[in-house]
Amino acid sequence: MRLDKLLSDMQGITRSEIKRLIKQGTVTVDGVKCASPKQQVDPKIQSVCLLGEEIQYQKFVYYMFNKPGNCVTARQDALHKTVMDYITDKRKGLSPVGRLDLDTEGLLLITDDGMLSHNLLSPAKHVEKVYEAKILGQVTDEDVKAFKNGVHIGDDLPAKPAKLTVLSEGDVSNVRVVITEGRYHQIKRMFSAVGKQVLFLKRVAMGGLWLDETLLPGEYRALREDEKELLGRN
Ligand code: URA
Repeated sequence: MRLDKLLSDMQGITRSEIKRLIKQGTVTVDGVKCASPKQQVDPKIQSVCLLGEEIQYQKFVYYMFNKPGNCVTARQDALHKTVMDYITDKRKGLSPVGRLDLDTEGLLLITDDGMLSHNLLSPAKHVEKVYEAKILGQVTDEDVKAFKNGVHIGDDLPAKPAKLTVLSEGDVSNVRVVITEGRYHQIKRMFSAVGKQVLFLKRVAMGGLWLDETLLPGEYRALREDEKELLGRN
């Protein structure tokens, strides 16, 4: 591939910037300074360095992000910090897979693998998403049954059957919900349909991939090989 394409894909920098860096002699291939952005390189067998740092070629990257609250799932926002503000990898095409609300925390995948995003988000694939929530008041057996049967949340079709488990009871109930859809405000609207309010919401799993609880809100890490395999990628 062309050297400037490799650098622009991996580093998210413009072709004119690359030209300038090459002119300054900061780009080397196998230790030899490059003269032209058009130079052909094979990143699998050659060592390409920018400012002394080796550029690892990866077709796609996959990050597990623990989204904090007060952060928008978008690339840009005028008012709030976005999830992409937390990602220091500036590689081209990186985007979040799906959306979590401003105040929702937890598992968000960030990747440039468009096919994976499509597979995880396609309604036809029924990918399971697991949420943990704090609900104001007691969550009842009737609520569990209603979720199992599919509650009406104001759309043409009711929500698909969901598994609601009460983890602890009290003035505030801790619950776990498994859904196979990803409609707008889905969990909040499902609880609203049974007269309950969600106080806190966190996604803990998606498509069999569980949030690494050692990641603090705002932290991310690359997926391990076994995690990529889980998502059908390797
Ligand atoms: N359901 C919601 O209500 N909000 C989210 O962010 C995700 C699922």
